[in-house]
Amino acid sequence: MRKNIVAGNWKMNTTLNEGVGLAKDVNEALKNVTPKCDVVICVPFTHLAPVCGVIDQQKLGLGAENCADHKSGAYTGEVSAPMVASTGATYVILGHSERRQYYGETAETLKEKVRLALDNNLTPIFCIGEVLEQRENGSYLDVVKGQIEEALFDLSAEDFSKLILAYEPVWAIGTGKTATDDQAQEMHAFIRSVIANKYGNEVADNMSILYGGSCKPSNAKALFAKPDVDGGLIGGASLDAESFMGIVTAF
Ligand code: PGA
Repeated sequence: MRKNIVAGNWKMNTTLNEGVGLAKDVNEALKNVTPKCDVVICVPFTHLAPVCGVIDQQKLGLGAENCADHKSGAYTGEVSAPMVASTGATYVILGHSERRQYYGETAETLKEKVRLALDNNLTPIFCIGEVLEQRENGSYLDVVKGQIEEALFDLSAEDFSKLILAYEPVWAIGTGKTATDDQAQEMHAFIRSVIANKYGNEVADNMSILYGGSCKPSNAKALFAKPDVDGGLIGGASLDAESFMGIVTAF
């Protein structure tokens, strides 16, 4: 069965103390509610192990925001999938548009990252999405289809089924400009059809497809009400426990 998921993406925010405090606040808030979705926080590498020690992972999943495209070795400054897994984290965001844009991630490197994440029992939250120009020139569906095909369609159906997808229109990330619920629904239904054509209806129906891009408590309900929107990947609004919980309880 397809799961509803709300995942926070803290990006490069919070010092260690601040991050542990925020994780504790979210963990505490979750004790008072029974959310109708899985809840995950993806945090900076430095925060993974300490945050793992202060949350109940039955109620709050933990993930990294990236991992290396190699398993180990002479890659100064990189953090591998086995290292992430060894902290207790079980998710990893891969292919975020900021990684593609500022750090030159390509479909080829992402393939390796996905493979290594899966080999280490990490659930990839794989991001796709078009830039404003592609939205405006009408190529956005083809762009997203290409991103999925190039990085993911070598996977077996079994492995592909382990992924979570996050559609994040780049023009909506951190801009305050959210895709309308109808724009999100159009893309999510399209993504599901692309998956169905390759892997069949069952795999497509069971895939969780999250929306990301200026999602906040005030717009989450309308987005999550759409039949093909299975939750959100939340940047800015995940940095405050109350607003993050406002999105979690939108389901
Ligand atoms: P935002 O970021 O919610 O701050 O727009 C979303 C994301 O980049 O994952």
